[in-house]
Amino acid sequence: MRINIAIDGPSAAGKSTIARRLAAKLGYVHLDTGAMYRCTAYKALQEKLDLEDEKAICAMLKNTKIELTPDGKVLLDGKDVSHEIRQDEISLAASKVSRHPQVRKDLVARQQQMAAARGFIMDGRDIGTVVLKDAEVKVFMTASAYARARRRYDQNIACNIPTSSIEEIAKEIEERDYQDTHRAASPLKKAEDAVEVDTSDMTIDEVTEAIYKLAEPYIAK
Ligand code: DC
Repeated sequence: MRINIAIDGPSAAGKSTIARRLAAKLGYVHLDTGAMYRCTAYKALQEKLDLEDEKAICAMLKNTKIELTPDGKVLLDGKDVSHEIRQDEISLAASKVSRHPQVRKDLVARQQQMAAARGFIMDGRDIGTVVLKDAEVKVFMTASAYARARRRYDQNIACNIPTSSIEEIAKEIEERDYQDTHRAASPLKKAEDAVEVDTSDMTIDEVTEAIYKLAEPYIAK
């Protein structure tokens, strides 16, 4: 049976890396919903919109195409922005635009449409609680702020992205955690039926295996 898997958790907990691995293992499609909020923020900044202006951002979204390709590229209105949207400035801006309920409504509808066929692993903040409430497997992935900052730092270096220090990244991560967990619209929180996995001291393979084990009984049906 083809199922949907929801992976939520704070920024840089390893959600995308694990989701990608698991998708390859299962032959499923990975959808990184954070990339959609990042695209929204990126375009809003390019168009010099006020990030507090929910109406203007929603109007912009009406004429915006966001594609997540099977090989992991992010296309914004047809242009590959995979690298640009990973900048620290966009991370903070994405957190800001994601506070707006109408922006969320637009992107959630797109996500639900994408995953309707099942066979998807979606990662984000509200997947288990809002987007895919009926996902067979829900995981809430956490890690200490320092572990997450170190990973984001290593990722930046590996991808040739200009990076701040680990301490600065940790501060930004904590700031975003606060914004993401305290916003009124769909704040980051563990779904009641989600399994919590703390990845601070786990390898990528160990986390992938742990989630695979959760999915196995459903897939075997
Ligand atoms: O996962 P990420 O760091 O790429 O996400 C960027 C921002 O988007 C993050 O601050 C929170 C927001 N986000 C969200 O509100 N809901 C999602 N499903 C995914 C991301």
